[in-house]
Amino acid sequence: MIGQREQWTSKMGFVFAAAGSAIGLGNIWRFPYVAGTNGGAIFVLIYLAAIFLIGYPLMVTEITLGRKAQKNPIGTFLALAPGTPWWLLGALGVFAGFLILSYYSIVAGWAVAYIFKALQGFTPGMDFAGIFVGHITGLWIPIFWHAVFMGITMVIIATGVVKGIQRSVKLLMPLLFILLLVLVIRGITLPGAGAGIAFYLLPRFGDVTAQTFLAAIAQSFFTLSLGMGCMITYGSYMSREENISDNAAWVVGLDTAIALLAGFAIFPAVFAFGFDPAGGPGLTFITLPAVFAELPGGTFFGFLFFLLLAVAALTSAISLLEVVVSWLVDEKGYKRGQTALVAGIVIFLVGIPATLGYNVFADFSFLGMDVLDTYDWFANAIFLPLGGLLTAIYVGYVWTAKKVQEETNDPKGKIIIGDWYEVFMKYVVPIAIAAVMIMGLWDKFFG
Ligand code: TRP
Repeated sequence: MIGQREQWTSKMGFVFAAAGSAIGLGNIWRFPYVAGTNGGAIFVLIYLAAIFLIGYPLMVTEITLGRKAQKNPIGTFLALAPGTPWWLLGALGVFAGFLILSYYSIVAGWAVAYIFKALQGFTPGMDFAGIFVGHITGLWIPIFWHAVFMGITMVIIATGVVKGIQRSVKLLMPLLFILLLVLVIRGITLPGAGAGIAFYLLPRFGDVTAQTFLAAIAQSFFTLSLGMGCMITYGSYMSREENISDNAAWVVGLDTAIALLAGFAIFPAVFAFGFDPAGGPGLTFITLPAVFAELPGGTFFGFLFFLLLAVAALTSAISLLEVVVSWLVDEKGYKRGQTALVAGIVIFLVGIPATLGYNVFADFSFLGMDVLDTYDWFANAIFLPLGGLLTAIYVGYVWTAKKVQEETNDPKGKIIIGDWYEVFMKYVVPIAIAAVMIMGLWDKFFG
């Protein structure tokens, strides 16, 4: 009926595509600033626990569901649980992807703009905070780069999955890794960096609240592209020859390594330059230019870094748009090219208020958050964890863990999905997410 579905073309094709989805602004922009506003090392610790105890098992789960059903998230639940309301879980995911991409593209636009700012040169003593605030509070320039970024994303999706995604990741991610290493070395050798290393690595347990846990779980979903069917969609393009549990471990490992490295590049420098670690979404954009200013060849490195960051963001944005488009193409029979265009334009428009929140909507506040933070909060503190929770319940109680084990446990694989997996899907993951969401949301609204 469906003919031949496209598949990743090489052995490691899935790993590169999924790592391209996972590694992005979540690692380099979001992880450091969220860690900074949530107490540093203690957040990092809880985040790592969330990655391994919740993120990895759910990554295996999503990939398995997608490969089994060979469908987008909504189609997957329609196929595996026909005649039930479970497809709504897929719909929640598509909606979340829509919302995330709308503001993700705004932040990606900042990264694109910084490619050019880097070329103009960062010099010691510049007012880096002022430059950042000056940029985001502009009216048309952030909208322009948002349009450019969404435009490129749309073109890539319009031309097809396999051709569009894998190639660049294989080359550019290792380069990003090396550049982060350069930044880490420069950062930790700055005078006064020690305080930043302590902030990043030595947990202060007194700082923990329910919000810390919610923020850590939210970040683990965001950075791994989980909870909205992205990995279901990417799994649907994975060949049966490949081992799911091993591939998922690669993706989780690479993503975590890049995030931890980004923290090392940023926190020592934050303290060395006297910035505020709890300064919020500008942290990366304010701190790293100050490091480039202190780096021989800083103009070139700065240019290359923001270029790679923009590309990393692009391979993530592609995965978000692909979820929406694959649903409309698979289920509604629309043409890929036109669908990518229309969906992209709508997402672009939905994103505009997020940047206007720093300009004409500067008075907007929801629980103390600006528009972009509000989008981010609904997506990450509510939709993604809820998606993960329901996915675990679906597999634990409806589809059954046995089916996941059958699909994942081939003799060639190194990681065996053992009986712990059923316990995780039935109890550990749902209870942990539910408890953290209830306490964290209570704290947010009434605390
Ligand atoms: N994980 C990406 C990042 O870290 C963003 C992303 C891509 C994402 N696809 C997603 C986040 C799906 C949540 C869900 O930048």
